[in-house]
Amino acid sequence: MSDLPAHARRNRALWDVWAQDYVMPAEKNWASESPTWGIWRVPESQLGVLPEDLAGRDAIELGCGTAYICGWLARRGARVVGIDISEAQLATARRLQQQYDLTFPLLQGNAEAIPYPDSSFDFAISEYGASLWADPERWVPEAARLLRPGGQLVFLVNSFLLSLCMPPEEGLAATERLLRPAFGTYRIEWPGDQGIAFYPSHGNWIRLLRRSGFDIEDLIEVRPPEDAATSYPFVKLEWARKWPCEEIWKARKRR
Ligand SMILES: C[S@@+](CC[C@H](N)C(=O)[O-])C[C@H]1O[C@@H](n2cnc3c(N)ncnc32)[C@H](O)[C@@H]1O
Repeated sequence: MSDLPAHARRNRALWDVWAQDYVMPAEKNWASESPTWGIWRVPESQLGVLPEDLAGRDAIELGCGTAYICGWLARRGARVVGIDISEAQLATARRLQQQYDLTFPLLQGNAEAIPYPDSSFDFAISEYGASLWADPERWVPEAARLLRPGGQLVFLVNSFLLSLCMPPEEGLAATERLLRPAFGTYRIEWPGDQGIAFYPSHGNWIRLLRRSGFDIEDLIEVRPPEDAATSYPFVKLEWARKWPCEEIWKARKRR
């Protein structure tokens, strides 16, 4: 990984530090048999993120972090691979993988350049992983290359609207005012040690996905459930009840 782009190098350093804060959530998610998604932990039964027929399918998680989603896929019978840039995150993933006796490859690498041949997978997923921290102009074409014709890509990100309302200071929640322009907000270099993240507009996502060979199947605007709560500081429940703070894209590689 000596030729990593600057944003990937910076985000790797950040995630090697943040990894310690993700150990407890990882343990909780690995212990859970039924998937929940995003910061409001919306149950899979409400969102239908995963395909029903994962048994025997080849799947990859892009920016797998602690790899609990890999675990959920493996338990559904998928042959799964996780890739993440942070060795510290993967250390947690490896420990929990052993604890739950689930064996699958966990690679350290950049999801923008994955060492697998073309058409290796039927399903690719990313939840706040490459989908947020890698450059979409690089990782989306890479996902398209890795998927077989008819294969599905699903990813969860902060909504574009939220990206316009989040103050730069760490720990502050999204405001009800637009703090930055919609035009040109593709990449945000968060001040301090908060990393570099990517927030394409809906038009950008649509054009990029289509140009990369995908048809778009759905865009789910996630709503917090009745009893929702989150420990993440960047958005308050009252905000998320009024506007979507997370969105899930589903796209299928054209045959
Ligand atoms: C919030 S975690 C999401 C993963 C998983 N859903 C979780 O919560 O453990 C973000 C992950 O993206 C990884 N990441 C950031 N940039 C990456 C890149 N270019 N390639 C692969 N992984 C990357 C980080 O190392 C981190 O583990």
